[in-house]
Amino acid sequence: MDLNSPIIRVLSGIAISVLGFQMCRKVLPWVFANILGPSLLGPRVDIRKMGEWAVVTGSTDGIGKAYARELARKGLKLVLISRSLDKLNAVAKEIGENFGVEVRVVDVDFTRGVEIYEKIRKSTEGLDVGVLVNNVGISYSHPEYFLECCNSDPKFLRDIIAANIHSVTHMCSLIMPRMVVKRKGVVINLSSTAGVIPSPLLSVYSATKAFVNKFSDDLQTEYKDHGLIIQSVQPGFVATNMSKIRKPNIFAPSPETYVKSALSTLGIATQTAGYLPHALLQLVIHFTEAVLGDQIARNVVLKNILGTRSRALRRLAKEQ
Ligand SMILES: NC(=O)c1ccc[n+]([C@@H]2O[C@H](COP(=O)([O-])OP(=O)(O)OC[C@H]3O[C@@H](n4cnc5c(N)ncnc54)[C@H](OP(=O)(O)O)[C@@H]3O)[C@@H](O)[C@H]2O)c1
Repeated sequence: MDLNSPIIRVLSGIAISVLGFQMCRKVLPWVFANILGPSLLGPRVDIRKMGEWAVVTGSTDGIGKAYARELARKGLKLVLISRSLDKLNAVAKEIGENFGVEVRVVDVDFTRGVEIYEKIRKSTEGLDVGVLVNNVGISYSHPEYFLECCNSDPKFLRDIIAANIHSVTHMCSLIMPRMVVKRKGVVINLSSTAGVIPSPLLSVYSATKAFVNKFSDDLQTEYKDHGLIIQSVQPGFVATNMSKIRKPNIFAPSPETYVKSALSTLGIATQTAGYLPHALLQLVIHFTEAVLGDQIARNVVLKNILGTRSRALRRLAKEQ
Protein backbone atom coordinates (compact mmCIF):
# COMPACT_ATOMS: atom_id res chain seq x y z
CA MET A 1 0.00 0.00 0.00
CA ASP A 2 1.28 3.47 -0.91
CA LEU A 3 1.20 5.43 2.38
CA ASN A 4 1.66 8.67 0.44
CA SER A 5 -1.38 8.17 -1.75
CA PRO A 6 -3.91 11.07 -1.64
CA ILE A 7 -6.64 8.83 -0.23
CA ILE A 8 -4.45 7.69 2.70
CA ARG A 9 -3.46 11.30 3.36
CA VAL A 10 -7.11 12.43 3.38
CA LEU A 11 -8.11 9.55 5.70
CA SER A 12 -5.19 10.31 8.07
CA GLY A 13 -6.21 13.98 8.07
CA ILE A 14 -9.79 13.04 9.01
CA ALA A 15 -8.59 10.63 11.75
CA ILE A 16 -6.27 13.27 13.26
CA SER A 17 -9.03 15.92 13.12
CA VAL A 18 -11.55 13.58 14.85
CA LEU A 19 -8.96 12.70 17.51
CA GLY A 20 -8.07 16.37 18.00
CA PHE A 21 -11.75 17.32 18.23
CA GLN A 22 -12.40 14.59 20.84
CA MET A 23 -9.27 15.69 22.78
CA CYS A 24 -10.55 19.28 22.92
CA ARG A 25 -14.14 18.29 23.70
CA LYS A 26 -13.66 15.47 26.22
CA VAL A 27 -10.10 14.69 27.26
CA LEU A 28 -8.79 18.19 28.05
CA PRO A 29 -11.86 19.22 30.14
CA TRP A 30 -11.56 15.88 32.04
CA VAL A 31 -7.85 16.47 32.73
CA PHE A 32 -8.59 20.04 33.85
CA ALA A 33 -11.54 19.09 36.08
CA ASN A 34 -9.85 16.11 37.74
CA ILE A 35 -6.12 16.82 37.76
CA LEU A 36 -4.89 20.25 36.71
CA GLY A 37 -7.70 22.38 38.15
CA PRO A 38 -7.80 20.94 41.70
CA SER A 39 -4.02 20.53 42.03
CA LEU A 40 -2.85 23.76 40.41
CA LEU A 41 -5.70 26.15 41.11
CA GLY A 42 -7.34 24.55 44.18
CA PRO A 43 -10.88 25.65 45.04
CA ARG A 44 -11.81 28.68 42.96
CA VAL A 45 -14.42 29.73 45.48
CA ASP A 46 -13.70 31.34 48.84
CA ILE A 47 -16.48 29.72 50.83
CA ARG A 48 -15.84 32.06 53.76
CA LYS A 49 -17.20 34.87 51.60
CA MET A 50 -20.46 33.01 50.89
CA GLY A 51 -21.93 33.53 54.37
CA GLU A 52 -21.26 32.95 58.07
CA TRP A 53 -22.98 29.58 58.41
CA ALA A 54 -22.85 26.14 56.82
CA VAL A 55 -25.67 23.61 57.11
CA VAL A 56 -24.68 19.93 56.83
CA THR A 57 -27.16 17.03 56.83
CA GLY A 58 -26.13 13.57 58.05
CA SER A 59 -23.23 15.15 59.89
CA THR A 60 -22.46 12.87 62.84
CA ASP A 61 -20.42 10.35 60.88
CA GLY A 62 -18.54 9.60 57.68
CA ILE A 63 -18.49 12.07 54.80
CA GLY A 64 -20.94 14.53 56.41
CA LYS A 65 -18.86 14.83 59.57
CA ALA A 66 -15.72 15.32 57.44
CA TYR A 67 -17.44 18.16 55.50
CA ALA A 68 -18.52 19.73 58.80
CA ARG A 69 -14.95 19.60 60.16
CA GLU A 70 -13.42 21.06 56.97
CA LEU A 71 -15.94 23.90 56.85
CA ALA A 72 -15.35 24.65 60.56
CA ARG A 73 -11.59 24.60 59.91
CA LYS A 74 -12.21 27.38 57.37
CA GLY A 75 -14.04 29.35 60.08
CA LEU A 76 -17.70 28.73 59.20
CA LYS A 77 -20.28 28.33 61.96
CA LEU A 78 -22.26 25.11 61.66
CA VAL A 79 -25.78 23.76 61.82
CA LEU A 80 -25.47 19.97 62.07
CA ILE A 81 -28.56 17.95 61.19
CA SER A 82 -28.81 14.23 61.94
CA ARG A 83 -30.96 11.64 63.63
CA SER A 84 -29.43 11.03 67.04
CA LEU A 85 -29.27 13.98 69.48
CA ASP A 86 -26.56 12.36 71.64
CA LYS A 87 -24.25 11.90 68.65
CA LEU A 88 -25.04 15.40 67.41
CA ASN A 89 -24.14 16.96 70.77
CA ALA A 90 -20.89 14.96 70.94
CA VAL A 91 -19.84 16.02 67.40
CA ALA A 92 -20.87 19.64 68.04
CA LYS A 93 -18.71 19.70 71.19
CA GLU A 94 -15.76 18.10 69.39
CA ILE A 95 -15.88 20.50 66.42
CA GLY A 96 -16.64 23.58 68.57
CA GLU A 97 -13.66 22.86 70.82
CA ASN A 98 -11.30 22.00 67.95
CA PHE A 99 -12.06 24.94 65.70
CA GLY A 100 -13.57 27.57 68.02
CA VAL A 101 -16.74 28.04 65.97
CA GLU A 102 -20.39 28.13 67.06
CA VAL A 103 -22.17 24.84 66.33
CA ARG A 104 -25.93 24.30 66.54
CA VAL A 105 -27.69 20.96 66.18
CA VAL A 106 -31.07 19.84 64.85
CA ASP A 107 -32.21 16.27 65.44
CA VAL A 108 -34.54 15.02 62.73
CA ASP A 109 -35.03 11.71 60.98
CA PHE A 110 -35.01 12.34 57.20
CA THR A 111 -37.14 9.24 56.60
CA ARG A 112 -40.07 11.05 58.31
CA GLY A 113 -42.66 13.31 56.66
CA VAL A 114 -42.54 16.97 55.60
CA GLU A 115 -43.07 18.17 59.20
CA ILE A 116 -39.32 17.78 59.88
CA TYR A 117 -38.60 20.65 57.47
CA GLU A 118 -40.63 23.05 59.62
CA LYS A 119 -38.31 22.21 62.55
CA ILE A 120 -35.25 22.79 60.32
CA ARG A 121 -36.74 26.05 58.99
CA LYS A 122 -37.24 27.39 62.52
CA SER A 123 -33.71 26.35 63.55
CA THR A 124 -32.05 28.06 60.57
CA GLU A 125 -34.30 31.14 60.41
CA GLY A 126 -32.35 34.40 60.15
CA LEU A 127 -28.95 32.70 59.72
CA ASP A 128 -26.64 33.92 56.95
CA VAL A 129 -26.12 30.48 55.36
CA GLY A 130 -23.38 30.41 52.71
CA VAL A 131 -22.94 26.66 52.28
CA LEU A 132 -25.47 23.82 52.28
CA VAL A 133 -24.16 20.25 52.17
CA ASN A 134 -26.94 17.77 51.37
CA ASN A 135 -25.07 14.70 52.53
CA VAL A 136 -27.60 12.51 54.32
CA GLY A 137 -28.26 9.25 52.52
CA ILE A 138 -29.04 5.60 53.18
CA SER A 139 -28.30 2.53 51.11
CA TYR A 140 -28.90 -1.21 50.99
CA SER A 141 -27.28 -3.30 53.71
CA HIS A 142 -25.91 -5.40 50.81
CA PRO A 143 -26.54 -5.56 47.02
CA GLU A 144 -29.92 -7.26 46.45
CA TYR A 145 -32.47 -7.95 43.72
CA PHE A 146 -35.19 -5.27 43.72
CA LEU A 147 -38.04 -7.70 44.49
CA GLU A 148 -36.14 -9.28 47.37
CA CYS A 149 -35.38 -6.00 49.13
CA CYS A 150 -38.75 -4.30 48.58
CA ASN A 151 -40.87 -7.33 49.48
CA SER A 152 -38.97 -8.13 52.65
CA ASP A 153 -39.13 -4.48 53.84
CA PRO A 154 -41.66 -2.30 51.95
CA LYS A 155 -40.98 0.66 54.29
CA PHE A 156 -37.39 0.71 53.04
CA LEU A 157 -38.58 1.86 49.60
CA ARG A 158 -40.19 4.96 51.11
CA ASP A 159 -37.31 5.59 53.51
CA ILE A 160 -34.55 5.52 50.92
CA ILE A 161 -36.39 7.92 48.62
CA ALA A 162 -37.23 10.24 51.54
CA ALA A 163 -33.64 10.29 52.85
CA ASN A 164 -31.86 10.44 49.49
CA ILE A 165 -34.21 12.55 47.36
CA HIS A 166 -36.75 14.47 49.48
CA SER A 167 -34.00 15.65 51.83
CA VAL A 168 -32.13 17.25 48.91
CA THR A 169 -35.09 18.96 47.26
CA HIS A 170 -36.63 20.19 50.55
CA MET A 171 -33.34 21.46 51.98
CA CYS A 172 -32.62 23.33 48.73
CA SER A 173 -36.06 24.91 48.81
CA LEU A 174 -35.53 25.98 52.45
CA ILE A 175 -32.01 27.39 52.20
CA MET A 176 -31.62 28.64 48.62
CA PRO A 177 -34.08 31.59 48.72
CA ARG A 178 -31.78 33.59 51.02
CA MET A 179 -28.77 32.71 48.86
CA VAL A 180 -30.60 33.96 45.78
CA VAL A 181 -31.43 37.26 47.54
CA LYS A 182 -27.78 37.90 48.48
CA ARG A 183 -26.64 36.50 45.08
CA LYS A 184 -24.09 34.06 46.50
CA GLY A 185 -24.01 30.59 47.98
CA VAL A 186 -22.76 27.03 47.52
CA VAL A 187 -24.91 23.89 47.55
CA ILE A 188 -23.05 20.56 47.60
CA ASN A 189 -25.25 17.52 46.93
CA LEU A 190 -23.88 14.07 47.69
CA SER A 191 -24.62 11.72 44.84
CA SER A 192 -22.56 8.57 44.14
CA THR A 193 -20.57 6.90 41.39
CA ALA A 194 -23.46 4.38 41.51
CA GLY A 195 -25.60 7.16 39.97
CA VAL A 196 -23.44 7.39 36.85
CA ILE A 197 -22.36 3.79 36.14
CA PRO A 198 -24.43 0.61 35.78
CA SER A 199 -25.38 -0.48 39.32
CA PRO A 200 -27.59 -3.59 39.21
CA LEU A 201 -28.72 -4.94 42.61
CA LEU A 202 -28.53 -1.39 43.98
CA SER A 203 -31.19 -0.16 41.58
CA VAL A 204 -33.22 2.02 43.96
CA TYR A 205 -30.13 3.53 45.61
CA SER A 206 -28.40 4.24 42.30
CA ALA A 207 -31.59 5.76 40.84
CA THR A 208 -31.89 8.14 43.81
CA LYS A 209 -28.28 9.20 43.19
CA ALA A 210 -28.92 9.66 39.45
CA PHE A 211 -31.78 11.96 40.51
CA VAL A 212 -29.36 14.01 42.61
CA ASN A 213 -27.05 14.46 39.59
CA LYS A 214 -29.84 15.51 37.24
CA PHE A 215 -31.50 17.79 39.79
CA SER A 216 -28.17 19.47 40.62
CA ASP A 217 -27.24 19.90 36.97
CA ASP A 218 -30.48 21.62 36.00
CA LEU A 219 -30.56 23.65 39.22
CA GLN A 220 -27.04 24.90 38.44
CA THR A 221 -28.17 26.07 35.01
CA GLU A 222 -31.19 27.80 36.57
CA TYR A 223 -29.27 29.60 39.34
CA LYS A 224 -25.79 30.18 37.83
CA ASP A 225 -26.74 33.72 36.91
CA HIS A 226 -28.00 34.28 40.48
CA GLY A 227 -24.45 33.73 41.77
CA LEU A 228 -25.02 30.20 43.12
CA ILE A 229 -22.78 27.16 42.73
CA ILE A 230 -24.63 23.84 42.83
CA GLN A 231 -22.24 20.90 42.84
CA SER A 232 -23.08 17.22 42.59
CA VAL A 233 -20.37 15.05 44.14
CA GLN A 234 -20.19 11.39 43.09
CA PRO A 235 -17.91 9.37 45.38
CA GLY A 236 -16.93 5.77 44.76
CA PHE A 237 -16.24 3.79 47.93
CA VAL A 238 -15.24 5.83 50.98
CA ALA A 239 -14.29 4.08 54.24
CA THR A 240 -17.42 4.80 56.34
CA ASN A 241 -20.17 2.91 58.16
CA MET A 242 -22.20 2.86 54.95
CA SER A 243 -19.55 1.11 52.84
CA LYS A 244 -18.53 -1.09 55.82
CA ILE A 245 -14.91 -0.55 54.73
CA ARG A 246 -12.89 -0.18 57.93
CA LYS A 247 -9.36 0.38 56.58
CA PRO A 248 -8.95 3.21 54.06
CA ASN A 249 -7.00 2.52 50.87
CA ILE A 250 -6.35 4.43 47.67
CA PHE A 251 -9.69 3.44 46.11
CA ALA A 252 -11.65 3.74 49.38
CA PRO A 253 -10.10 6.75 51.13
CA SER A 254 -10.95 8.01 54.59
CA PRO A 255 -13.82 10.54 54.64
CA GLU A 256 -11.29 13.27 55.57
CA THR A 257 -9.08 12.53 52.52
CA TYR A 258 -12.12 12.31 50.28
CA VAL A 259 -13.67 15.60 51.46
CA LYS A 260 -10.40 17.58 51.23
CA SER A 261 -10.11 16.38 47.64
CA ALA A 262 -13.78 17.04 46.80
CA LEU A 263 -13.61 20.59 48.20
CA SER A 264 -10.60 21.32 45.95
CA THR A 265 -12.93 20.88 42.95
CA LEU A 266 -15.38 23.63 44.04
CA GLY A 267 -15.78 26.19 41.28
CA ILE A 268 -13.93 23.89 38.87
CA ALA A 269 -16.44 21.08 38.32
CA THR A 270 -20.17 21.02 39.03
CA GLN A 271 -20.53 17.26 38.46
CA THR A 272 -17.50 15.48 39.89
CA ALA A 273 -16.26 12.20 41.34
CA GLY A 274 -14.44 14.52 43.72
CA TYR A 275 -11.35 12.32 43.99
CA LEU A 276 -8.99 11.29 41.21
CA PRO A 277 -9.01 7.46 41.74
CA HIS A 278 -12.84 7.56 41.68
CA ALA A 279 -12.78 9.69 38.53
CA LEU A 280 -10.45 7.12 36.93
CA LEU A 281 -12.81 4.32 37.94
CA GLN A 282 -15.72 6.10 36.23
CA LEU A 283 -13.52 6.67 33.19
CA VAL A 284 -12.56 2.97 32.93
CA ILE A 285 -16.22 1.93 33.09
CA HIS A 286 -17.33 4.51 30.51
CA PHE A 287 -14.39 3.50 28.29
CA THR A 288 -15.37 -0.19 28.61
CA GLU A 289 -18.94 0.74 27.65
CA ALA A 290 -17.70 2.69 24.61
CA VAL A 291 -15.24 0.02 23.43
CA LEU A 292 -16.95 -3.27 24.36
CA GLY A 293 -20.56 -2.05 24.29
CA ASP A 294 -23.00 -1.22 27.08
CA GLN A 295 -24.24 -4.79 27.48
CA ILE A 296 -20.80 -6.30 28.07
CA ALA A 297 -19.90 -3.56 30.57
CA ARG A 298 -23.20 -4.15 32.42
CA ASN A 299 -22.58 -7.92 32.56
CA VAL A 300 -19.09 -7.40 33.97
CA VAL A 301 -20.50 -5.12 36.70
CA LEU A 302 -23.39 -7.54 37.40
CA LYS A 303 -20.97 -10.47 37.84
CA ASN A 304 -18.89 -8.40 40.23
CA ILE A 305 -21.88 -7.25 42.30
CA LEU A 306 -23.34 -10.76 42.41
CA GLY A 307 -20.04 -11.84 43.99
CA THR A 308 -20.38 -9.09 46.64
CA ARG A 309 -23.99 -10.18 47.30
CA SER A 310 -23.00 -13.85 47.75
CA ARG A 311 -20.25 -12.93 50.21
CA ALA A 312 -22.66 -10.70 52.18
CA LEU A 313 -25.34 -13.43 52.30
CA ARG A 314 -22.77 -15.99 53.49
CA ARG A 315 -21.66 -13.57 56.23
CA LEU A 316 -25.28 -12.99 57.29
CA ALA A 317 -25.98 -16.73 57.38
CA LYS A 318 -22.94 -17.25 59.66
CA GLU A 319 -24.08 -14.48 62.01
CA GLN A 320 -27.54 -16.07 62.47
N1 LIG B 1 -19.45 5.73 51.89
C1 LIG B 1 -19.47 5.53 50.62
O1 LIG B 1 -18.78 4.63 50.10
C2 LIG B 1 -20.32 6.39 49.72
C3 LIG B 1 -20.17 6.24 48.34
C4 LIG B 1 -20.94 7.01 47.50
C5 LIG B 1 -21.84 7.92 48.02
N2 LIG B 1 -21.97 8.05 49.36
C6 LIG B 1 -22.96 9.02 49.84
O2 LIG B 1 -22.37 9.90 50.77
C7 LIG B 1 -23.31 10.28 51.77
C8 LIG B 1 -22.73 10.00 53.15
O3 LIG B 1 -22.44 8.64 53.26
P1 LIG B 1 -21.57 8.03 54.45
O4 LIG B 1 -20.91 6.84 53.91
O5 LIG B 1 -20.78 9.09 55.08
O6 LIG B 1 -22.73 7.57 55.45
P2 LIG B 1 -22.64 7.11 56.97
O7 LIG B 1 -21.25 6.92 57.42
O8 LIG B 1 -23.61 5.99 57.10
O9 LIG B 1 -23.21 8.40 57.77
C9 LIG B 1 -24.52 8.78 57.56
C10 LIG B 1 -24.85 10.02 58.37
O10 LIG B 1 -26.20 10.34 58.08
C11 LIG B 1 -26.98 10.28 59.26
N3 LIG B 1 -28.26 9.64 58.97
C12 LIG B 1 -28.48 8.40 58.48
N4 LIG B 1 -29.78 8.19 58.32
C13 LIG B 1 -30.40 9.32 58.73
C14 LIG B 1 -31.76 9.71 58.81
N5 LIG B 1 -32.74 8.89 58.46
N6 LIG B 1 -32.05 10.94 59.27
C15 LIG B 1 -31.07 11.78 59.67
N7 LIG B 1 -29.76 11.47 59.61
C16 LIG B 1 -29.44 10.25 59.15
C17 LIG B 1 -26.19 9.47 60.24
O11 LIG B 1 -26.57 9.95 61.51
P3 LIG B 1 -26.94 9.00 62.75
O12 LIG B 1 -25.65 8.70 63.35
O13 LIG B 1 -27.78 9.78 63.62
O14 LIG B 1 -27.59 7.80 62.16
C18 LIG B 1 -24.75 9.82 59.86
O15 LIG B 1 -24.38 11.02 60.45
C19 LIG B 1 -24.58 9.51 51.46
O16 LIG B 1 -25.46 10.32 50.74
C20 LIG B 1 -24.10 8.37 50.61
O17 LIG B 1 -25.10 7.89 49.74
C21 LIG B 1 -21.24 7.30 50.23
